[in-house]
Amino acid sequence: MAGDIRIMGICGTYGVDSANGRMLELVFDHCRKLGAECTIWDNAEHPLPLVGAEGCWDDENVKAFQEMATSSDAFVLSSPEYHGTMSGVMKNSLDWLYSKHTSGKPFSLMCTLGGQASNNTLNHMRIAARWIHGWVTPEQVAVPHIKEAFDDDGNLLDEKIVERVEGMAKSLVDIAEYLKSR
Ligand SMILES: Cc1cc2nc3c(=O)[nH]c(=O)nc-3n(C[C@H](O)[C@H](O)[C@H](O)COP(=O)(O)O)c2cc1C
Repeated sequence: MAGDIRIMGICGTYGVDSANGRMLELVFDHCRKLGAECTIWDNAEHPLPLVGAEGCWDDENVKAFQEMATSSDAFVLSSPEYHGTMSGVMKNSLDWLYSKHTSGKPFSLMCTLGGQASNNTLNHMRIAARWIHGWVTPEQVAVPHIKEAFDDDGNLLDEKIVERVEGMAKSLVDIAEYLKSR
């Protein structure tokens, strides 16, 4: 069991009451069953200023965000696709992370789409995670046609996506344990 693995979820929508907040909860259900401790950063509760905005370098939320990243062993990013790429909230969140917070730690990636599945957002987040020296799991999840993706209880309807979420969670926890033990 991954008792000492801490995983930080970063949501590309402003609050976690969204499809991407739900996707993070679903993947964290599996990670918790494997023994990991999981927390989602909620931008609605603790908004991060835009990088470069007045006062941003001394912002308390930024400090807390970076401290949470430093004390985490792994990350899950989940972003809506906006105009063929990750949301501004996700990009700005990643812009607050540097390799000193994330180097040598694994990332898993998810995205949701109003339309058909695409790898654009996943690929763009993969590039950003690489830039902050993260190891990105090969397993990743894209959820197309997001308005029809969940049942009334918030569970995913497509069994293949359910399996992908579970497989990604296992891979992330396994890799986090391996990288932490080195
Ligand atoms: C500004 C904007 C741009 C969008 N661009 C795309 C897009 O390029 N492709 C797509 O499939 N859906 C697009 N959508 C739909 C979102 O991806 C969809 O609403 C989102 O995945 C829902 O997730 P959420 O509930 O976490 O916000 C866009 C939505 C907005 C608001």
